[in-house]
This record gives sequence, structure tokens and C-alpha cells, in this order.
Amino acid sequence: MGHPKTYHIAWLPGDGIGREVTIEALRVMTRVAVPYGFEVSYQEHKAGGTAIDHFDTPLPDQTLKACLSADAVLLGALGGPRWDHCEGEKRPEAGLLRLRKEMGVFANLRPVSVPESLAGASPLRREIVAGTDLMIVRELTGGIYFGEPKGRISTEEGSEAFNTMRYSEFEIERIARVAFDWARRRRGKVTSVDKANVLDVSRLWREVVTRLHADEFSDLHLEHLYVDNAAMQLVRRPSDFDVVVTGNLFGDILSDLAATLPGSLGMLPSASLGGRVGLFEPVHGSAPDIAGEGKANPIAAILSGAMLLEHLGEARAAAAIRQAVDAALDEGFRTPDTWQAGLRKTTTDEMGLRIAELAERQTAVLI
Ligand code: IPM
Ligand code: MN
Repeated sequence: MGHPKTYHIAWLPGDGIGREVTIEALRVMTRVAVPYGFEVSYQEHKAGGTAIDHFDTPLPDQTLKACLSADAVLLGALGGPRWDHCEGEKRPEAGLLRLRKEMGVFANLRPVSVPESLAGASPLRREIVAGTDLMIVRELTGGIYFGEPKGRISTEEGSEAFNTMRYSEFEIERIARVAFDWARRRRGKVTSVDKANVLDVSRLWREVVTRLHADEFSDLHLEHLYVDNAAMQLVRRPSDFDVVVTGNLFGDILSDLAATLPGSLGMLPSASLGGRVGLFEPVHGSAPDIAGEGKANPIAAILSGAMLLEHLGEARAAAAIRQAVDAALDEGFRTPDTWQAGLRKTTTDEMGLRIAELAERQTAVLI
């Protein structure tokens, strides 16, 4: 027997709860790896506020270099009120945007499903959220987050600030292609979200998506929704959605909205793909108000770990993790964000430990 395959992960815990949730993801990944014959090794690198404190920049060169040469990047969360005084490129968030751009990860996949066990935890009625299984495909390296010109100027009337939403045909087509490819592997439906009744950039978006659909994906169902209407439909009839494709800003907003479906942002994982190396991070932020208290839900990070392994070709290990998450929820394990009377309130590490145990056992059954 040769040496097991080893995946090298650049681990960027970042700020706030980022560390405690990604520690649980690493625990689950290293544990599920054993029976599948691979190993996970990880090295920690500073990013975000923590990096600002040490190196006066949210994305030190050595961190970026490590990310670009790893097999995958696992990131916790960046930012917090401690660094709110930082400006421009010195903000923790700017480090994250630069990391995404430098890694070339233009496609941000944010799956949202509502396990039966959580249908009652949603602020929406059970019968509305039950059966939800959708995926937001958010463009991640363009749009108004990056568009030039941008800035702040002084005028005679006072300050004025501006950003620019721009998309090229090339950027729209490549993200739409990702969405159609996923729809083909899922339920065959794509909802493209824009604001084409107002914005020129959205009219181009709609044109390009429509053309690509007609040319290469006409076997799939395509619909277009304006973003305001999409926000309403997502909470009114979430189970009608399969793949939702949209730009950077609309995708950011709609994914937090979609987190109300399973009842917590602590449930949503993400994968950012398109470069040589993938970036995997929970959708939630650094939640400084609960950092270090064992209250954070590690499931978003753990499921991001499953997406990471799946992307590296370890689909069965990824499936074992997902099944273990469902099983832990079925057993009543809940961190405070999804807890309801009658269920078992667990800490971050109790939840991670239980999922790790179940994932290992799951593996034994699958083999
Ligand atoms: C997200 C976050 C980031 C974003 C912030 C932290 C820059 O909200 O990943 O959704 O806006 O993309
Ligand atoms: Mn966001």
C-alpha cells in the first residue's frame, strides 16, 4: 500500500467565530478522510482583522501565496467592529475581495436546503419551506463590488461617492454556463435574477443568458425575475427554485434572505470556484457578539468542508459528511441559533464532535 493521498489546505480562520467553526470543519474532514484512504493536512494563515493587527494589511503576501499553491482554501469569516475604523484597502472585507479576485473564483455556489428536521425552525411556515433545495450561483469577482470608476469626491454641494455596476458579455456568459451546468445535474431549471427594467447592465445580462440558453441549453427551463420580485418569491414559494443565477450584489443580498429558509445563516455553506484553487467558506460573517462562547453553529463551515472534499474528487466522503449533519439534526443536536424547546442545546464543539463521529460511522456503513 502506498502513502495515502494528502490534500494540503490553506486554513484562514480569520476573525470572530471564524476559528471555532472552521476547527470543527477540519475535525470532521480529517476524521472522515481515514476510511476513504486520504489525508487532510492544513496550515494556518492570517487574514482579515487579525492580519491587520499583525501585518497592517488584511491579506499579507505570504497568505495569498499559500492560498494560490494549496489544494484548497478553507476560510472562516473576516471583519468585525474592532476594524470598523479601517478604510479602503485596509478593511478586512477588502482582503476577502482581493483574495477572491486573485484566486479567480468567479463562481460562488451557495446551496440552500431545508432538512425536514429544521422545517419548524424557520420563521416562515413549515409548509412553505419544506422541500426547499435550491442553489444560488452568485457572480463573485465582478459587478458593483469591483467596477470602476468608484470613489469619493468633494463637490460644491458636499461629498459625493459612487460605484459602478458593470459586466462584460464574457463575465455573464461564464457564470451563466456554470448555472446551466449545475441545473443539468439537478432539476433542470434556472432562474436568472436581474433588474432589467431599470439597469442597462441587467439588460445585457438578460440578453446573454437568453442567448446561451437558446444556443446550448435549450433542454433546460429558463426564467427571468427582477430582483425585487425574486426576493418576494424566494420566501413565498422557495421550493419552486432550483438554480438561481445572479450578479455579485444581488447574490449577496438574496443569499442572506435565503438563510431564513433553514432558519439560520449558520446553516449555509459556500464554494467559490473558477480558479485553479477553490475557496470554501460559510456564508455567515464573523459574529463578534458570540465569538468564543461556544454558541456558533459550525454546520455552515462543516458543509463547506464537504463541498471542498467533493471538489477534490472525494464525493463519497462529502456525502458521508452531509448525511452526518442530517443525522445529528435528527438526533436533536442544536446550537442556540436553531434551538427549539424539546431539543438538545449543544455547543459548537459538541456539535462538531457528534457530526465527526456520525460521519465516521456513516463511512463504515457505506463501505
Ligand atoms: C459574503 C459577505 C462578503 C460579501 C463581505 C464580508 C465582503 O457578506 O460573503 O456574503 O459581501 O461578499
Ligand atoms: Mn453576504
